[in-house]
Amino acid sequence: MGEELLWVEIQDNIGWIKINREKKLNALNQNLIDALHHTFIDFQNNPEVRVIILTGSGDKAFVAGADIAEFSDFGPSEAARLAAHGNRVLFDQVAHLEKPVIAAINGYALGGGLELAMACHLRIASKNAKMGLPEVSLGIIPGYGGTQRLPNLIGKGKAMEMILTGDMVNADQALLLGLVNQVVQPEDLLESAVVLAERIIKNAPNAIKNAIKAINAADGSKSGFQVEEMMFSNCFGTEDFKQRVNAFLKKR
Ligand code: COA
Repeated sequence: MGEELLWVEIQDNIGWIKINREKKLNALNQNLIDALHHTFIDFQNNPEVRVIILTGSGDKAFVAGADIAEFSDFGPSEAARLAAHGNRVLFDQVAHLEKPVIAAINGYALGGGLELAMACHLRIASKNAKMGLPEVSLGIIPGYGGTQRLPNLIGKGKAMEMILTGDMVNADQALLLGLVNQVVQPEDLLESAVVLAERIIKNAPNAIKNAIKAINAADGSKSGFQVEEMMFSNCFGTEDFKQRVNAFLKKR
């Protein structure tokens, strides 16, 4: 189940998942996406787990994005499959999980990393966290729900600004925007996530499950996510995309 990719533990009704790819800033490759998928299923099915906390290893990154090396030579049809698969097995799975998932954002949450944090139900950021959707700098757009979940969380105007500029925001700015629920010192991050989890665990599991379902029903329409997948794949196969991704991989 990809034990080397993830550290997984259950303690006091909390299911812990730590993404363990520190050298690549926890960038999400396909193996990692599949390992996360299976772990979320295990936690969903385990009655001992009441709340899940997701974080990244190291003090630099939560997740620095989808693995750019993995999609650098993709064309539109492969990109369409990539987005559809990732959304189905991970991003939508997390958003619609019946147990709350807290993202403990311990550093960079960029691109697919911020999209993963936004698919979670709650977000706590450490003071050193930086968040953004820099896809347009690579000649593509967010493909894992970012164009839908960001405006839902912070409003259309600010989401336009973040997505069209690709600029990052720091933790305090993210708090003001409503992108994260709390900002804490790095050394307090995991304990703060536990305190939040405990405040939820004292409530009725069935009520929590139903509340998540009801709140999710207020999200943008399903077709918005489908348009995003289409526009995402449209960007692939352009010269711009190839040049920009190669520049990143060759260290600019
Ligand atoms: N995909 C693949 N590899 C990534 C990655 C990603 N999204 N983000 C970081 N890495 C890798 C780097 O290539 C590097 O690998 P190497 O040591 O084998 O060369 C390693 O992680 C460390 O990253 P590096 O860029 O050297 O760290 P930095 O401190 O100079 O910069 C960032 C940190 C986050 C600003 C920079 O890594 C970055 O811009 N990452 C890409 C962010 C992005 O565009 N994400 C959206 C993708 S759709």
